[in-house]
Amino acid sequence: MLVDKLNELKEEVKLKVDNANDTATLLEIKNEFLSKKGKMSSFMSELKNVPNEEKPAMGNLINEAKKFITNLIENKQKTLQEKELEEKLQSERIDVTLPGYNYHSGSKHPMNIVVDEIIDIFLPLGYSVVEGPEVETDKFNFEYLNIPLDHPARAMQDTFYITPELLLRTQTSGLQARAMQANTLKTPLKIICPGKVYRRDDDDATHSHQFMQIETLVVGKDVSLANLKQTLDLVAKKMFGEKRSIRLRSSYFPFTEPSVEVDVSCACKNKQTCPICKGTGWIEILGAGMVHPNVLKMSGYDPDVYSGYAIGFGVDRITMLKYGFDDIRQLYNNDLRVISQFVKER
Ligand code: DAH
Repeated sequence: MLVDKLNELKEEVKLKVDNANDTATLLEIKNEFLSKKGKMSSFMSELKNVPNEEKPAMGNLINEAKKFITNLIENKQKTLQEKELEEKLQSERIDVTLPGYNYHSGSKHPMNIVVDEIIDIFLPLGYSVVEGPEVETDKFNFEYLNIPLDHPARAMQDTFYITPELLLRTQTSGLQARAMQANTLKTPLKIICPGKVYRRDDDDATHSHQFMQIETLVVGKDVSLANLKQTLDLVAKKMFGEKRSIRLRSSYFPFTEPSVEVDVSCACKNKQTCPICKGTGWIEILGAGMVHPNVLKMSGYDPDVYSGYAIGFGVDRITMLKYGFDDIRQLYNNDLRVISQFVKER
């Protein structure tokens, strides 16, 4: 009888479900009884052999049995899932009292802090940052800057040559020429170029064979020395404080005319005893000037139409002044006790 068979089947499922200890076994049971080819489906196909008047009653019984089995499996599944989750939570328990790993987080090098500070002054004024190669050609490092082969100014920058044509750049000023030549439309330019430079110096408290500069160049129509002075004043105040002022002294650089040496006023109370300004009240911080017409011409700008100014910051010197270093070598010998004191995020 179909009814008996159904009851047997229900018993069989109940036994199996009771004995199932994990969800994988339960899934097998589900497939065995409830899938398309499972045991319950075969009952449905047997229904066609039942006399017509018994069909509705039988159909109900089969559906009821199916519901019974489905409930049985679903309830057990819930129980097993909860059990498995609990086991997982137990086995993967994290001991929050264990000591953690101590990750060392680095800090910015004081010179990079100064570079970032200077860039942050210039970016809002419309300048863009430009970088270039440290292995430079003689042409960009010297010739395009109005320093031909036999020019005595070359002697001031004792140079590491790689070949007669290639060298380790002695100044970031070469980026002036690079930027002007790259700008084929010859439109106005405002750039700021930080970078390492190299000179064959004997290392002592104020000299290093490697140091850092920031070059700044503005080219446009009607750019004047007044614009340069205003920019320098702004930079000095932002870098060293609102009360500081600047002083321009005339100087000489082959690529600027006129050229100036720029001093910032010292913050000392008594200049007679001040070791920084050494009694003068002024501290030299950078060189600058109006771009020499030859330099404009060699890089494709018409000096009758365009003028410009350039500034050359010595990052090492400014860093030493700002943070009170008395020996440039402290900036380069990687003593973390010294250089990690100046944490400052951008
Ligand atoms: N390049 C110069 C040097 O290394 C510094 C300098 C001076 C850069 C005057 C400039 C400038 O752009 O106008 O000594």
